[in-house]
Amino acid sequence: MSIIFELADIIKDCEVKAYSLLEKVSKTPISNEIVQRSLNDKNVDNLLYHGDNIDAILDLIVRGFKGKIDLIYIDPPFFTMANYNNRVELNYLGEKKIIEYKAYTDTYKGGFREYIEMVTIRLFLMKELLSDKGSIYVHIDFRTVHYIKIIMDYIFGLDNFLNEVIWSYKSGGTSKKHYSRKHDNILVYSKTKNYIFNPQKEKSYNRGFKPYKFKGVMEYQDDIGWYTLVNLKDVWQIDMVGRTSRERLGYDTQKPESLLERIILTSTNEDSIVADFFSGSGTTIAVAEKNNRRWIGADCGNSSILTIMKRMGKIKSKPFEKISLMNKPSIGTIRIRSVSYEILSNNEYKIKVKLDDFHINLEQLNINKKDIELISNILENDSISLIDYINVSFGNNTAIIVYEDFKDKDASNIQTDFDFIIDSLEEKICINIIDVFGNATQEDIKIL
Ligand SMILES: C[S@@+](CC[C@H](N)C(=O)[O-])C[C@H]1O[C@@H](n2cnc3c(N)ncnc32)[C@H](O)[C@@H]1O
Repeated sequence: MSIIFELADIIKDCEVKAYSLLEKVSKTPISNEIVQRSLNDKNVDNLLYHGDNIDAILDLIVRGFKGKIDLIYIDPPFFTMANYNNRVELNYLGEKKIIEYKAYTDTYKGGFREYIEMVTIRLFLMKELLSDKGSIYVHIDFRTVHYIKIIMDYIFGLDNFLNEVIWSYKSGGTSKKHYSRKHDNILVYSKTKNYIFNPQKEKSYNRGFKPYKFKGVMEYQDDIGWYTLVNLKDVWQIDMVGRTSRERLGYDTQKPESLLERIILTSTNEDSIVADFFSGSGTTIAVAEKNNRRWIGADCGNSSILTIMKRMGKIKSKPFEKISLMNKPSIGTIRIRSVSYEILSNNEYKIKVKLDDFHINLEQLNINKKDIELISNILENDSISLIDYINVSFGNNTAIIVYEDFKDKDASNIQTDFDFIIDSLEEKICINIIDVFGNATQEDIKIL
C-alpha cells in the first residue's frame, strides 16, 4: 500500500485538478437569487445534498458559500476495503423479515492511490469554503491517518494543526495477533490563527478520588468520587453507538451524537454554519440542528439520505432544502387515488390525499437476488409497506414541507389517506416518497 514516493506528486496533481474545477465554476455566473436565498433566507437555513460531495462543494461555491463555513467535520470511508450495509425490517404475512442492502462501498479498483486522491482533491476544495474563523475535523483511523496528516499539513499548513484527537471506545472483538484496535483519529486544523475555540469541560478525578481542598479550586463529587472540571483533553472516551443504543439507526459507521456535540460546541458559535460532506446517517447535521447551528449535509448514498430525512423529521428540524445532484431516473411509481381540496376560510385550505398503490421496477432494484421474490410478493399484496418516508412539498420549493410521515422503529405503514392545511393555494403539490431501499420517487399533482 505504500505510496510514500508518489505522495508529493499525488498532492500536486490533486491541487491542480481542484483549482481547475474552481476556475471552471468561477466562470459560472452567480445567480443573485440563489445566493440571497441560500445565505439569507431564514426560512431555508439548511441544505442537504444528495450526490457526490465534489459537486455539492462546487455548487456551494457558486451559491456564494466560499469562506462562509465555520466548521467542516468529515468522516470519510476509512479504506477498509469493505462494503457497508443498511438493514431493513419488513413485516410479511405476520413474519418479520430482515433485508440487508448496500449502503456504500469503501473499495477502490485503483487501490490506495485512488482512495488518497479521492480524499485529497476534496480537502483542497473544502478549504475554499472554510471561513477565516473556521476549522476542519477529519475523522479517520490507523489505516490512513499518517498519510492524511501529511496531506493536511500541506493543504492547511503545519502551523494550523491543532490536535490529533483520539476517540477511544469499547466495541466487540479482540485480537490475539496485535493490540485490539479501539480508537479512531480525528485531525483538527484551523484555517487561520483567529479560529473559534470555546473550550469544553470534562471531569478529572482526583488521585484516590478524595478531595484535594486546594485553595480557589472548585471540587465536585459524584458516585465515583471527587473531581475537578478541566478543559477537554485530546483523548476522548465516548461509547460507540452500540446495538442497544437508543441513538442507533441501523446505519453502519454511525457516530455518537456526544462526539459531534463536543466538536460543534467547541468550534462554532450559534450563528455558525456547520458542514459534513460525508454525512452518512446525519449525526453532524442532527447535532448542529439541536444546537441551533445552520448546517449543510451531503452524501451520495440513497440509504444515507433516507436515514437523514427520517432523522430530521423525528427531531422536527427547521425547513431545509434537499438538492439532488443524482440525475438518475426514478425506479418507483406512486399511484394516487385522489387529491381534493376544501376551502375552510380565506387563508385556510384543507388538502386531502388518498394513495392507491406503489410500484418499484424490480429489475433496477439494487438488492440481493435472494430477496427479489419476497419484495415482488410484498409489492403485490402490501406495496405501501415498502414506502419508508413520504412528504408533500409545495409549489417548486422542496423546503416547504406541508406534510410528512415516516415509519419509525416499530411503526406500522405510513398513512395512505391523509390531509393537511395550507394557507394559500398553489397550482401543484409535490409528493416525495422514499422507499425502504432509499430510492426516491416524486409525483407532481395539480390541484388547481
Ligand atoms: C463513514 S460514513 C459517515 C458516517 C457518519 N459520520 C455518521 O455518523 O453516520 C461515510 C459516508 O460517506 C459517503 N460517501 C462516500 N463517498 C462519498 C462522496 N464522494 N460523496 C458523498 N458522500 C460520500 C458514504 O455514502 C457514507 O455514508
